[in-house]
Amino acid sequence: MQTEHVHRLADAAAMDDVESESVELVVTSPPYPMISLWDDLFSSRDPKVADALDTGDGDTAFERMHAQLDAVWDEVARVLAPGGVVCINVGDATRSVGDEFQQFPNHARIVSAFRERGLRPLPDVLWRKPTNRLTKFMGSGTLPPNAYVTLEHEYILVFRKGGPRQFEAGDDRRYESAFFWEERNEWFSDLWTLTGTDQTLAAPSDRRERSAAFPLELPLRLIRMYSVYGDTVLDPFLGTGTTTVAAMLAGRDSVGYELDETVLDAFDARVDGIDEQSGRRVRARIGRHETFVAETDAEVAHQATNYEFSVVTKQERRIQFYTVCSVEQADADDVRRYRASHVPYEN
Ligand SMILES: C[S@@+](CC[C@H](N)C(=O)[O-])C[C@H]1O[C@@H](n2cnc3c(N)ncnc32)[C@H](O)[C@@H]1O
Repeated sequence: MQTEHVHRLADAAAMDDVESESVELVVTSPPYPMISLWDDLFSSRDPKVADALDTGDGDTAFERMHAQLDAVWDEVARVLAPGGVVCINVGDATRSVGDEFQQFPNHARIVSAFRERGLRPLPDVLWRKPTNRLTKFMGSGTLPPNAYVTLEHEYILVFRKGGPRQFEAGDDRRYESAFFWEERNEWFSDLWTLTGTDQTLAAPSDRRERSAAFPLELPLRLIRMYSVYGDTVLDPFLGTGTTTVAAMLAGRDSVGYELDETVLDAFDARVDGIDEQSGRRVRARIGRHETFVAETDAEVAHQATNYEFSVVTKQERRIQFYTVCSVEQADADDVRRYRASHVPYEN
């Protein structure tokens, strides 16, 4: 099996090289409006954002930042295939603008944006990211009533274009892409407690010092939950390419857009050793399953077709793992292309 991965150094508000209805899954995390890390980026693309922040007009700044994201959501809605899914990791922002402290509800604004574009919200996930910082409490200390709850969660919003995707009965790609029953029970919970990831950039960008990357486990899990082998996954706000790494490991094609070349440059180092990483991950996944089988009270009555372990449901029987054996790269101007070769994993 081979998968193709394309990175474009370009604005995701004009994804002219992506055909309409050609993408089965979008996994992304935009710059978060009203989080100061992103003020310069939003202001550079719309000077009225900077004016609004300077004059203490938080509502205008918030809305104009979201207008920039809306232009990308227009494109996401266009390129998404019928039955395709969009997963957006975003956090709300708390901030004093002028004299007034408030929460800016990014997640609610993005839900409205997708509903306006005709996509349907599906149940979402709260990603809990506990912080141990002693300074995390804000407001009036230990005196009521002007203290504020600490935000220790972000969202993974989920949308779909139209009804569920249809497959032929027994479709090979779909059945090979099955996940384990016990993985389903963990992944489809509405509360995830994944730890964040190191966001240091080896070569800091002109625009920012941190990558704002999400942990690899986040796109990897979403790709396995909402797509099948051979699908195309899009990340319009690619950053360091975490979604591409996840798509390679999961055996899906991918496309990513990114404005900041320095951040995107961090990707190539992430491909080094991906063959070993993918073997390690498959072995760990099977190892966890074997431990589950040994310890569970659930009935594990079905024999996997391609492996020696048993599984709980009939749907899991044809599960097939692949590992990455090599990645070739070809760059042209502002397009970077990668081709990953995969082989079936045998135990
Ligand atoms: C939150 S970061 C994404 C981090 C990424 N998930 C990772 O793991 O590295 C958002 C990224 O979107 C990029 N960006 C912002 N607006 C963009 C646009 N209109 N088109 C393409 N990329 C954009 C920023 O430069 C930034 O790298």
